[in-house]
Amino acid sequence: MADKPFLTDIKTLRERARKHIENGAVTEGYKVDRETAIKILNEALATEIVCVLRYKRHYFMATGIHSEAVAAEFLQHANEEQGHADEIAARIVQLGGAPNLNPDGLTSRSHAEYVEGETLLDMIKEDLVAERIAIDSYREMIKYFGADDPTSRRMLEGILAVEEEHADDLVTMLGELGN
Ligand SMILES: [Fe+2]
Ligand SMILES: [Fe+2]
Repeated sequence: MADKPFLTDIKTLRERARKHIENGAVTEGYKVDRETAIKILNEALATEIVCVLRYKRHYFMATGIHSEAVAAEFLQHANEEQGHADEIAARIVQLGGAPNLNPDGLTSRSHAEYVEGETLLDMIKEDLVAERIAIDSYREMIKYFGADDPTSRRMLEGILAVEEEHADDLVTMLGELGN
């Protein structure tokens, strides 16, 4: 590790920063393909919105003796998915993109599905499936961003941890309902 230079020299750094200042946070050193990054993040955004809608539906439709505790959990998840959607949308804008919030095509852009489910048990199972889809797709996105976009990567790592908690909550609920 003897003489390895730590950074680009200061003069070059300063010169580079002055070019294309209209790109804001996106500098010359940004190594991810921006179009791909924005496309991936828009798919994540669609996934989160579909999850908000599904959890909201489940929250309002939960019935039965166990419904109160379960509905409270659905609502909490819905709110957390909305928070994820907002974080992702803000990051898309930072990268110079536009969040795709068009309801047309939402379910095909989303990785997770919108399934209403008849019973409380169906709802929990469908939510669990959706979380498991999200977990796998976030893990892949995190790998994609890697060291080239640490900000997007860290955001997605934070979201992934919450999706894992959601899946864990749902499994616990399934167990408590005796299945
Ligand atoms: Fe989420
Ligand atoms: Fe989730």
